[in-house]
Amino acid sequence: MTHFLPQRLLITGGAGFIGSHLVRLMVQKYPHCEIVNLDKLTYAGNLENLRDIEDAENYTFVKGDITDARFLDDLFYEYRFDSVIHLAAESHVDRSIANPMDFIMTNIVGTVCLLNTARSAWHQAVEGKRFYQVSTDEVYGSLGDTGLFTETTPYDPRSPYSASKASADHLVRAYWHTYGLPVVLSNCSNNYGSYQFPEKLIPLAIHNIKHQKPVPIYGDGQYTRDWLWVEDHARAIDLVFSDGKIGETYNIGGHNEWRNIDLVQLLCNIMDRKLGREAGTSAQLITFVKDRAGHDRRYAIDAQKIGRELGWQPSLQFAEGLERTVDWYLANDQWLHNVTSGDYLRYYAQQYGLPH
Ligand code: NAD
Ligand code: DAU
Repeated sequence: MTHFLPQRLLITGGAGFIGSHLVRLMVQKYPHCEIVNLDKLTYAGNLENLRDIEDAENYTFVKGDITDARFLDDLFYEYRFDSVIHLAAESHVDRSIANPMDFIMTNIVGTVCLLNTARSAWHQAVEGKRFYQVSTDEVYGSLGDTGLFTETTPYDPRSPYSASKASADHLVRAYWHTYGLPVVLSNCSNNYGSYQFPEKLIPLAIHNIKHQKPVPIYGDGQYTRDWLWVEDHARAIDLVFSDGKIGETYNIGGHNEWRNIDLVQLLCNIMDRKLGREAGTSAQLITFVKDRAGHDRRYAIDAQKIGRELGWQPSLQFAEGLERTVDWYLANDQWLHNVTSGDYLRYYAQQYGLPH
């Protein structure tokens, strides 16, 4: 196996949830690699997520849009990247239902712009180059009560978000087959941890429980997700980037399935204990609301390939990960306050019709 050691790495979407954990890991692990974080700073991107490493010598932040082809060409010309890890995306399913066009632009058109730029910058020699597409398990569609998504499960995306990610994955593979662009992909299950924008289930529930607001559960609450600690995902990305085989896809997951209602109930118990509330108090906030349109019933990942070939395993038990996550949100009230003002309030009112 050839071990890839980057020298000039472009990470897109590094100011978001997973991206910021990945940027931190890579900046610290590869001090001799020049790392550029390119991010548009949409509502989901926040430079506060990276305060602790923003002065590192091998790190540069650049604000920009991956759909701007001219800008990308100039950036590649200036930095002469040998590798790209592409995370920039519109990432929230509910927003994709309300407004698909942003997802088409960033997730599909933006990915093609990046592919074109990399292809033209690397046209003379693709040796020593690498383009990594960070993708999601949602491209595989929805599972019944049994079974797991493997790397060969046919794509069957069902929301505008997952369809846009599926399109992007197809295009990445097409650039490998057609032009020989050296690509690698991974498809991961639901992440949780610090710095996740509170539109997503876990931080939203923590925030609402803390402020004694209704905790919205879609439909019957029996929808199932496979949860993974975000730092374990970042570690997996580093491994796939360094040791993954060109042209291959790796599934990443937590072996950790939870029904939404059970997960939120567990969060309520943790929060009661941490906030000194009588047991059962927070669970009274659980409020069943109108279901998400086209809601995928169950996701679960078979992560054997990355375990067998690259030696990756999730490191953290869910109970401990959730405790740490709750502690982080309780200790970082200012961060939550900053990201839940302005645009978020409008989004929340539109999405839930509930007080925030
Ligand atoms: P996020 O929404 O927290 O962050 C996305 C980042 O991309 C933000 O910083 C945003 O400013 C940036 N961005 C958006 N549009 C851009 C554009 N046009 N140009 C440049 N930057 C832009 O997302 P996340 O949850 O951290 O997800 C990161 C990636 O991982 C996405 O590609 C997502 O599909 C994938 N993924 C996420 C999960 C999960 O559970 N969150 C699981 C599997 C895969
Ligand atoms: O599976 C990977 C995907 O996980 C990523 O590709 C996406 O970027 C990421 O957002 C996440 O998608 P989900 O739709 O699974 O995550 P979300 O946190 O939005 O919802 C998790 C589950 O909780 C899902 O079944 C919907 C439900 N839910 C969500 C919200 C926001 C509720 O019941 N109530 C809510 O208010």
